[in-house]
Formats: sequence, structure tokens, C-alpha cells
Amino acid sequence: MVNSSGDIQKVDQTICQLRDQINTYNYQYYALDNPTIPDAEYDRLFRQLQALENDFRELITIDSPTQRVGSQPLDSFSQVTHKMPMLSLDNAFNNEELNDFNRRILDRLASLDIRVNDDIEYACEPKLDGIAVSLLYQDGLLVQGATRGDGTTGEDITQNVRTIRSIPLKLNESAIGEGNKIPEIIEVRGEIYMPKAGFEQLNAKAIENGEKTFANPRNAAAGSLRQLDAKITAQRPLEMCAYSVGLVEGGSMPTHHTGVLKTLSSWGLRINTEMAQVKGIQACSEYFTRLEKKRADLAYDIDGIVFKVNDLLLQKQLGFVSRAPRWAIAKKFPAQEEMTQLLDVEFQVGRTGAITPVARLQPVFVGGVTVSNATLHNKDEIERLDVRVGDTVIIRRAGDVIPQIVSVVTERRPENVEPIVFPATCPVCDSPTEHIEGEAVIRCTGGLVCPAQVKEAIKHYVSRKALDVDGLGDKLVEQLVGFRYIRTVADLYDLQLEQLVAMERMGEKSAKNLLAALDKSKQTTLPRFIYALGIREVGEATARNLAQTFGDIAPLMSANKDTLEKINDVGPVVAHFIVEFFAQEHNQVMIAALKDKGITWPIVEINTNGLPLAELTYVLTGTLSQLTRDQAKEHLQRLGANVTGSVSKKTHFVVAGASAGSKLKKAEDLGIDILDEDGLIDLLRVNGVEI
Ligand code: IVH
Repeated sequence: MVNSSGDIQKVDQTICQLRDQINTYNYQYYALDNPTIPDAEYDRLFRQLQALENDFRELITIDSPTQRVGSQPLDSFSQVTHKMPMLSLDNAFNNEELNDFNRRILDRLASLDIRVNDDIEYACEPKLDGIAVSLLYQDGLLVQGATRGDGTTGEDITQNVRTIRSIPLKLNESAIGEGNKIPEIIEVRGEIYMPKAGFEQLNAKAIENGEKTFANPRNAAAGSLRQLDAKITAQRPLEMCAYSVGLVEGGSMPTHHTGVLKTLSSWGLRINTEMAQVKGIQACSEYFTRLEKKRADLAYDIDGIVFKVNDLLLQKQLGFVSRAPRWAIAKKFPAQEEMTQLLDVEFQVGRTGAITPVARLQPVFVGGVTVSNATLHNKDEIERLDVRVGDTVIIRRAGDVIPQIVSVVTERRPENVEPIVFPATCPVCDSPTEHIEGEAVIRCTGGLVCPAQVKEAIKHYVSRKALDVDGLGDKLVEQLVGFRYIRTVADLYDLQLEQLVAMERMGEKSAKNLLAALDKSKQTTLPRFIYALGIREVGEATARNLAQTFGDIAPLMSANKDTLEKINDVGPVVAHFIVEFFAQEHNQVMIAALKDKGITWPIVEINTNGLPLAELTYVLTGTLSQLTRDQAKEHLQRLGANVTGSVSKKTHFVVAGASAGSKLKKAEDLGIDILDEDGLIDLLRVNGVEI
């Protein structure tokens, strides 16, 4: 029981210590990206603080780390007038414009009779693609957070910014140890953004819950900040990075921009670690090139680089034109999003028959390249976007990602445009399409009748990880299939020199090399061969497992679903695809033809680990009536058993058919378990063998 003011003081001391500890760990984690304690330890301290505050509610303060999420949702955001206006930046799109910026600065300084003896010193920072905010700290306490709005007035989003852990609720002079004193009033300016990984996770969750996704991390950050209920904002992976200050009263700040940022960092705010200080505009260009290369690897989206005159006195002397400073400029990267028109949608058929809608676009320069196609993924995506031919669409191309349509500008939709209809038959071979329950893709059921699937199957068969045939590129495959020289992969081995030489851009030498490569490919390995068949969901690793389990192609071809499912890596879906593949007659014919052409591989030593009869030795004797001895042997082997010809102490079971003789007797003498034919059939059936 606590009943004296002395005790309360003690509790308060503990509470303050806990808050300091938590704030320090928070700072290391969220501002420096450098966690110093395990999450569990952090959680323990946090819960300890919560428990104490629960018991001593009078000791709760607004800046306690437990008080980030307020309880009351707002009705609306109120307006806030910034103490100092929030400026915007002029843009430069090339080096010429960047050099002009530097020239204008030099000219202006010259006209003001201000001498600079050397190249101008610039601070270089990534231009974060998020939402600008202003944080007002009074006596070190966060009292207000506001959006930029029109630069003079913005919206009060204090409740929301308080939930962002990289925003300190209280500035801390000793966070790093040295640095300036915290002024009585300071407006900290910066960007709130959503890191790429958090954005991906948020969208993945939205898809799982059947909710709307965000088009890009910037929209996700904006949408998350615009919540009237801060509890929602609290669940969003937002970060804030400080890049300048507005009004400062009752204190002083360093004389250079980079010093200001370092001071903000020392007080507990996050600043950009890519920040650099360079001399002269040439060095700015070099910094830009360096960051452009790094752009795709950064954890967050940036849309350019901001260059700022580092000396704050020079900044002041240079002043502003309208609402942008003369002392700063943003050099933009090529845009990652652009608007264009959807000209058509084509349906491409892949190796497994999957039909993918591809958008044909009015060519547009985006993300540094001209884009004229974008993937539409599948039918669901078309429906989600409600995209129609003729629509104006927004295209996004970030890094190496395939260009995507992120949204439709419905306001610009022409009249009478019809929704896109997914074809009911294959656009290449006219076979019916099928939509399997629970799958997003729609497939052509034509199999090897479909030239599109044949082409893809051949491309896969000759690819590096499969039979690795050099010199058979996509274009050549398309011609050979087009001329009907090849209808299945087995036809590859019947190709004649004259046929090849007649193809476009094919000399005699390359044709001969290709024939030699095809010949060489006949000596392969079982895993490569299985992979090359192109069975759905059977990648390299699964092919290797199958090879090790079955040792040869014949037992794999007759394996049933239950046996397959006992293999590592093979679940019911993959097992189904394998059984289905080998059940199709044209695949059986193709495999026989390939063997006929001389495709061989060394038999793989069977790894029976995990099979139901692994490490058991069986001997078969007598006559069986429902299956032959060879069949029985193959079934048992496929279940992992070792089947030998003579009975010994090492034999575990003897299967005795009708008129079994000496082997049965020996087994009885040795006390070995004996199965009759029905017993064998039961055993096989229990293990999934169909007889
Ligand atoms: S400085 C007077 N630095 O870019 C200088 N802005 O139009 C004011 N931005 O919406 C801005 N990263 O939010 C500055 N490192 C950075 C920035 C940055 C992103 C945003 C800012 C504003 C826009 C400028």
C-alpha cells in the first residue's frame, strides 16, 4: 500500500525512469533504425509502465509513451495556422536546369555584393514521397501536428501524428548527449511516409480481407493520416523524417542546415541517413546519380533529390520568389506514375494455359523508359479496377517491377465504353477456358493442341535449368511452331538442317550448332527431365525430390496421389497436377517419343526416407492371382520397400502366393511374418495403391 507522499514520489521516480528508458529505446528503434534491446524486453518495460500508471492515474502525463493513441475519434479536423508558412520547392528536371539554379544563386549574390570565394556548399537529401507535416513543440512537448494545407493553414492532425513512433512526444536534450538547447517554441518540418515493406503488408492484408488496396505508398500514407479515428492511424506503418524547421523562438539553432538536422536528430527526431554535404553543383549532380542507382534499394519511395544552400545566412540573403525559396531546388527522378490511354486488352496464353490479360497502352515515358504494355494480372484485377478500353489510366513503373495500371481516371471515361469481357474460349486455339474454384487464373483447356501452350512448353523444355539447349531462342521457337515443324517437344529431335536454315536470321553454322546442342541435350539427368516436362507447380526442387523418390520416370508416371503426397514438398494440389499430367495420353506419348529419340539419364538412387515401407525388406514367393509378381514388386518398391529374392534373417515379410514352396518354409522356420495375397492387397490399398 502506498499512503505517503514519499511513496508516491518514489513511484513517480520509477515511472519517469521507465519513460526515459522506453523513449531511449524508441529513439534507437524508430529514429535511428538501430534497436538495442529485444522486443520482449521493450514490451516488458512498457507493460510495467502501463501497470504503474494504471494504479496511479494521477501520475499519467500527456508525453508518456503509453499515451500515443487517444480514445476519442474526431468529428472533423480543425484548421491550424502555421506560425511560419510552409514553402514548396521549385523543380529541375535535368542538369541544365540544375546548373541554372546554381547560376541564379551566384548572380543574385553578386548583385547583392555578397562574396562567396568558393563553390557554394549544398546539403543534399532524398525527396521523400509522402505528406508534409509541421510539428509544433512548446518547451519540448509536442503540442500540435498539422498538414501543409495551402502553406499558410493546414489541418490539425495532432491525434494522428502522436501515434507515429518516430515522432517524439517530448524532445530530449540528452538523447545523444550534446547539441543545442531545446527552444521554447519550435516548428519541426518533415515528411510522413510509409516504407515500401509496410505498404506491401498493408495491401496484402487488405486483399485478404477483401478491402480496397492503396495505389502507392504515398496514397497509403495520406489515407492513414486522414483518419478521424487515431486508432486506425496507429495501426498503419508510418514514419516521419524531419528536413527543416519553421519558427524558432526562445532559443538558437546552428548556423548551417546540416547542423540543424543533426540537432533535431540529437533531440530524438528521425533524419535521413542519406543526407550529404557537398561543394559545388557538379557534386550535386554526382550525388543525384549515386542516389538514383540506390533508389530501388531504399526502404521508402523517393521522387527526387533536394539541394539546399547549406549556410543559413546565405539562405536568408537569397530569400524567396513567390512561395519557393531561391536557395533550394528539387531535381526530380523520372516520374514513376504517368497517365495514358488504354488502347486494347490482349489475352496471352502461358505454358500451363493460364490466360493473362495484357494492357496495350498509348506509349508513355514513365520510370525512365517508354511503356506500351502493362500487366492486368487476371480477371479479378480487371474487375477491381473496372478498367475499360478507351479509359485514361494511371501507370506505375517502380524499379524493375513490371508496369502496372494502378487506377482509372473515371472522370475522363469516354461515353459508351463497355466492360472488358474475359474470353470464354482460348484466343489462340479456341478450346474452352476453365475457371477453377478458388483460383484467380482462367485457363485454356487445349493443352498441347494449343499452339500458344506448345510454344511455351518448348521454351521451358530447352531453358537453362531444364534440358539447356543453346541457340533456340523465343523467336525461333515461334517460327518453328508456326511452320508446324514442331508440335511437341519430341519433334525437336527430328528437326532437319534444311528446315532450320530456312528460318529467319538462321545461318548454316548456327543451325548446325543447334542440332549439336539438341543432340547433346539427350544425355540429361532425371531431375532435369522431370522439370523440363513443365508439370504445373513442379519446380526444380520438387523435380529433384520426385527423382530421388522414384529413381526413374516409369514409377513416377504410375504413382498415385496418396503416394505423391507423402513426398516432401508435395501437397494435394501438386500431387493432383502430377497425376493429371501423366494421366493424359498425349503426355504419355510424348514421354515415350522422347525416350525413343534417345533421351537418357542415369538411374537415380532411390531415397526412401519418409516412405511408408522404408527400411522394410519383402520377399515375394508363390503365384499371385490379382497382379503379377513384377507389379507387386514395383508397388512395394514405390512405397519404399526393399524387395529381395531370398529369405534371410534380414527379411521382414514374406508374401506367399498360391503353391509357395521352400521360401515360405524357411520364413516359417525363421519366424518371419507372412502375408497371403489378400494381406498384400490390403497393405497396398492402405497405402493408397489402386488395384
Ligand atoms: S524542403 C523550403 N526537404 O517536397 C523547403 N522538402 O514542394 C521546404 N519534401 O511537400 C521543403 N522531402 O514535403 C524538403 N528533404 C526534403 C523533402 C521535402 C520531401 C517535400 C515537402 C514538400 C515538397 C516540396
